[in-house]
Amino acid sequence: MSDATINMSRIALLPLAQRAIAAALYDGAIAIDATVGNGHDTLFLAQQVGERGQVFGFDIQPVALEQARTRLAQAGLLSRVSLINRPHEQMFAAIPGQYHGAVRAVMFNLGYLPGGDKTIVTRTAGTLRALQSALALLATGGARISVIAYTGHAQGREEAQAVRGWVEALRRDHYRVDITVPPAKQAPELILIEKSATPQ
Ligand SMILES: C[S@@+](CC[C@H](N)C(=O)[O-])C[C@H]1O[C@@H](n2cnc3c(N)ncnc32)[C@H](O)[C@@H]1O
Repeated sequence: MSDATINMSRIALLPLAQRAIAAALYDGAIAIDATVGNGHDTLFLAQQVGERGQVFGFDIQPVALEQARTRLAQAGLLSRVSLINRPHEQMFAAIPGQYHGAVRAVMFNLGYLPGGDKTIVTRTAGTLRALQSALALLATGGARISVIAYTGHAQGREEAQAVRGWVEALRRDHYRVDITVPPAKQAPELILIEKSATPQ
């Protein structure tokens, strides 16, 4: 990742996010899906952390967690995942203390549940609080956060802008930041944050 790069390329964001996150994970790693939804990212993380790893997944909608549970069970990976029906703003309190400072990756996919209630969306204030918690939970030395933010509606645009503002204010000697903004109008954005070896 380069430092605070604005990359205007036309790359599909999810594979890009997954590639960056996979590079921070290994067998036995701890990871968090901050927005479980239908569980696609949770499944991806469960595959990456291996048999000895652990994934914590948050969503405020029981229906989302049930769909994710089914997906993980079908893949035979449910035992590596704790699905938590709490807002991601509470992740610091919800993650066992032994993992504080040991989390290797946190994925955020903002917005609403695809195929679900479009009025239940991530909100700017909560997202920023959750990002701050995620930063505190991350291990040093290459642990990463990915955020996919949607700019196709006013609330999402405001949220994406706030996340970018928050990210741009991070100390560059402690964090590396990479922002991908596809050229298409109202296309989603990808924000990657990497915690370097010696922050705080
Ligand atoms: C775009 S979807 C996530 C898609 C998911 N990553 C997938 O692979 O299917 C966003 C999810 O965030 C959830 N959400 C909204 N506010 C939340 C909050 N404060 N804490 C945790 N999840 C939240 C929604 O319920 C929704 O399921």
